[in-house]
Amino acid sequence: MSSAFVVILAAAFFFGHLPRSSYTLPCSPGQCQLSDACTNSRECSRGLFCSACAADGDAASACHRYQATDVISIKGGLAFNKYSWLTTHNSFAILGEPSQTGPRTTFYNQEDTVTDQLNNGVRAFMLDMYDFLHDIWLCHSFGGVCYGFTAFEPAINTLKEIELFLASNPSEIITIFIEDYVTSANGLTKLFTAAGLKKYWFPVSSMPKDGGDWLTLTEMVSRNYRLLVFTSNITKESSEAIAYNWRYVNENQYGDSGMQSQTCTNRAESVFKCQEEKMAKLPCCGLLQAE
Ligand SMILES: *[C@@H]1O[C@H](CO)[C@@H](O)[C@H](O)[C@H]1NC(C)=O
Repeated sequence: MSSAFVVILAAAFFFGHLPRSSYTLPCSPGQCQLSDACTNSRECSRGLFCSACAADGDAASACHRYQATDVISIKGGLAFNKYSWLTTHNSFAILGEPSQTGPRTTFYNQEDTVTDQLNNGVRAFMLDMYDFLHDIWLCHSFGGVCYGFTAFEPAINTLKEIELFLASNPSEIITIFIEDYVTSANGLTKLFTAAGLKKYWFPVSSMPKDGGDWLTLTEMVSRNYRLLVFTSNITKESSEAIAYNWRYVNENQYGDSGMQSQTCTNRAESVFKCQEEKMAKLPCCGLLQAE
């Protein structure tokens, strides 16, 4: 049984490499464009990498782009809501991230570390935060409780990566969306203070309440309002001055269905609050989530 299995693997390996000598590229080496088939990254144009994207059901290698264009470099200074900011869903659920709490049994959404996500153009992060081990952890869990087998890391580690980026890039703006399971007293306030992020805090009082325009990037940078933080827990807007997400934000559905052009489905919570609070003036697709 096992020797038959080995033979099949060896055959697949052999046939996988056989066509290489006779393979014709659909493009000149070094000139291949986005989505062109390829066998290695040198065949792709600048800024593109040859890889297969399993999540897309795409087993064949093609030239992919791993860096989003920094929208500020095209045109700066407009109102914050006039831009689309690349956002990662469950930004902390990173494949290959070592576990500090024993074997992990959960799913993964990202391949880049948070620092690499930042360097590759991600400007908004969705982080699930839980009270765990006398601290606040990023965790992919259920029932509002973090377990060793669902935990990723203490949230402060990720927040410090974001702090370093904001300190080194004085005109960049970052948004954090917290799926909030934290109930420890002033837990989030203590966390963001310890991470050195309070100095960049965009105050709730400066957020538009009626679906109107946000401050411009120029104003946000000059006032150092360069970190926007939203929580899913409505009580924390009054208790800790952390903006309640569904009062200010419309979200498309995460995953593939929210990326379909024309339909652009909203995330369930977003539609509900949108109708309830009459915020239909906000654009449907202000936020694009990458998974
Ligand atoms: C929201 O936070 C408050 C204060 O920590 C807590 O008492 C409440 O249970 C939280 N609500 C939800 C839905 O998690």
